[in-house]
Amino acid sequence: MEFSERILGVDTSELRGVLSLIKGGDTISFAGGVPSKELFPLDELREILLEVSGMHDAFQYTSSMGVEELRKELLGYLKERHGINAELGEIMITHGSQQGIDIIGKALVNPGDVIVVEAPTYFVALNTLQIYEPHFIQMELEETGLKTEELESLLRKGEKVKLVYTMPTFQNPSGITMNEEKRKHLIELAEEFDFIVVEDNAYGDLRYEGKRVKAIKHFDESGRVIYLGTFSKIFVPGFRLAWLVASKDLMEKLEVGKMTADVCSNTFGQYVAWKFMERNLLEKHIKRLIDFYKPKRDAMLEALEEFMPENVSWTEPEGGMFIWATVKNGADTKLLLKEAIRRKVAYVPGTVFYALEGGKNQMRLNFTFESIERIREGIKRLAELLS
Ligand SMILES: Cc1ncc(COP(=O)(O)O)c(C=O)c1O
Repeated sequence: MEFSERILGVDTSELRGVLSLIKGGDTISFAGGVPSKELFPLDELREILLEVSGMHDAFQYTSSMGVEELRKELLGYLKERHGINAELGEIMITHGSQQGIDIIGKALVNPGDVIVVEAPTYFVALNTLQIYEPHFIQMELEETGLKTEELESLLRKGEKVKLVYTMPTFQNPSGITMNEEKRKHLIELAEEFDFIVVEDNAYGDLRYEGKRVKAIKHFDESGRVIYLGTFSKIFVPGFRLAWLVASKDLMEKLEVGKMTADVCSNTFGQYVAWKFMERNLLEKHIKRLIDFYKPKRDAMLEALEEFMPENVSWTEPEGGMFIWATVKNGADTKLLLKEAIRRKVAYVPGTVFYALEGGKNQMRLNFTFESIERIREGIKRLAELLS
């Protein structure tokens, strides 16, 4: 069989490897990024499912943009929580943010176009965008987020950038949050050098401490930001429901990308999500998640402090699902993973998260999946390995 060069250019072996580590069981897994299933709001959903099952339209096709009532609820949520003012024609429901990323690639990226990504970045987004054959440039992160100064000097040297893909809040994998100055700087650069910023905010609502930040989209007056949000981490991932916010001129073509992919997202799930929001249950649920995850983050930070040798450092995120650890003496975390698994503890090695080079001595640690006891035990085992 002769496959397309497009698909042959994407190496998902790392992704498959990571997925196989998520399950946990006997092994203490810090590898996943999946929400705790014991927190899925089943009791509340039962009532809603009954209500929606009596609504004929919930079983019908819907518009490519998505169910209007759900989009209206989301507009209120986006304004209240992220400072985003958008109109109904500027929000589209997608089949997970994963599809949002794919549609952006489909609608905007020609082979060879430059996409700037953070180093490290969310590796599945790299795989997805790779399909459209871009040229990736990776840009380092610092404690305050993407090094926008470096981006500026690249642009001033004449590099033509098409997209910048960023996760400014509780970044995956580093947990880093971009400060407001950089958010504004990024918009200024996008306007001056005519590129699109893709703001992926999958984790922004999971804040355990510190003040809320406004989305980059909040500062966007010229329609250069495409914003992605998802129900996956704050409600349930199984409905595969997310949203994409973009100016109307961009949306016109993004909608074509959606229509040609699947006509519309699952109507039934959209009705359920709408009813969940209408009953004010999303806010309540986010609070419940925060109360559940915060002690886990604290437990992992404490265990790292208590057990890790001096050559290991890590980020201290105010939210999200991940801590990013760096081993300073040049250890190879991919090689070490085999031994870690033998000791029944798993993480994701750093190299996966780089579009180009990097991450050999780094690892992503998820703190939301395991119990506090297992988090302590798992970090202890890792520390013994790294000592
Ligand atoms: C940064 C980031 N973006 C997007 C996604 C995809 O989420 P969804 O389940 O909405 O497709 C994930 C999932 O882990 C993620 O971490």
